[in-house]
Amino acid sequence: MRLTRKATAMALASCMVLSMTACGGSQTAATTAAPATEAATTAAATEAAKEAETTAAAAAEATGTADMSDKKVGISIYKFDDNFMTLYRTELERYLTEDLGFKKENITIQDGKGDQAEQTNQIQNFIASGVDVMILNLVQASSAPQVTDMCKDANIPVVYINREPDVAEEERWASEKINATYVGADARQSGTFQGEEIAETANKGDINGDGKVSYIMVQGDPENVDAQYRTEFSVKALTDAGIEVEELLMQRGDWDQAKGQQIVQDALTQFGDKVEVVFCNNDAMALGALQAIEAAERKVNEDIYLVGVDALTEAVQNVVDGKMTGTVFNDHFSQADTAADIAVKFLSGETVDPVNMVDYVKVTSDNAADILAKVK
Ligand code: BGC
Repeated sequence: MRLTRKATAMALASCMVLSMTACGGSQTAATTAAPATEAATTAAATEAAKEAETTAAAAAEATGTADMSDKKVGISIYKFDDNFMTLYRTELERYLTEDLGFKKENITIQDGKGDQAEQTNQIQNFIASGVDVMILNLVQASSAPQVTDMCKDANIPVVYINREPDVAEEERWASEKINATYVGADARQSGTFQGEEIAETANKGDINGDGKVSYIMVQGDPENVDAQYRTEFSVKALTDAGIEVEELLMQRGDWDQAKGQQIVQDALTQFGDKVEVVFCNNDAMALGALQAIEAAERKVNEDIYLVGVDALTEAVQNVVDGKMTGTVFNDHFSQADTAADIAVKFLSGETVDPVNMVDYVKVTSDNAADILAKVK
């Protein structure tokens, strides 16, 4: 699908170039007639350019792909310094330009720097500069009502990604027919998969055989539902399977590797062998946790279990190598492509659902090699 679209876009692009140059043969006045004056040349060239535009538009129509070459997109990412959102951002830009025909110079991507006031400013600038659509990864999902109203007043559709606004806000878009939508993945599913990965180990996570699973929970930014749901549903999957649990520690690591390392280092010092499972709300923090686990000379899958979420290349490699028990693929390809496809739908005047979810995939030693090939 991706390749076909890309090929179509490339064929269209070369068709456009061809019709504007001598290769076009009899297609345009500019290439067939020797112009008598400079004015005539300019006129013919203008006409040729117009014709090329019409041809591109007609071809786009015929193939079902809208012509996006003059559409402006404003994108703001909550912060550039986030491993997962960097993968997401790269795919978003690639897909918009290579597969959907947006021009690179018409796409502005801003770094929200983890500061909502700064990001709101960027959004105001997008409005002032007349972007046609916005794709926003909010710093604080709770600012969605205010941001949505700003976009609505400016008549600019908005696609929210990764940090989900609350249900009341999503329902408002539908009831008030506002051109706003969310693209993401249901974090309850990722939490459940993490818990199942532990429940599926030989001793069901109870390494010391005392009849309960003692864990530490390293949380992402708790303002974010991904952090809330992963924390809740990972443990719920264990208790739903009839497994007794004991929480030794829960601490926020804000999705950050260095914080993850510090939290787990301190927890291992404090609780020692009591720690049987380390749940991390994402892989960046799990990579930090692994550094702490190795420094404490503990061995994953032997005397401690470790799970994350995202399927960062390094984390999946760790699953292959037995250094992490599992992770969960947070499919940034499908999420980025869906967000971009939906932006095009808005620009084409189509109706869009308020919530669009992509599935997570469980990653254990059984399928890690396959997933690695996908994400590498
Ligand atoms: C990812 C995290 C990321 C966060 C950013 C989550 O879905 O799992 O790695 O830091 O989104 O909002």
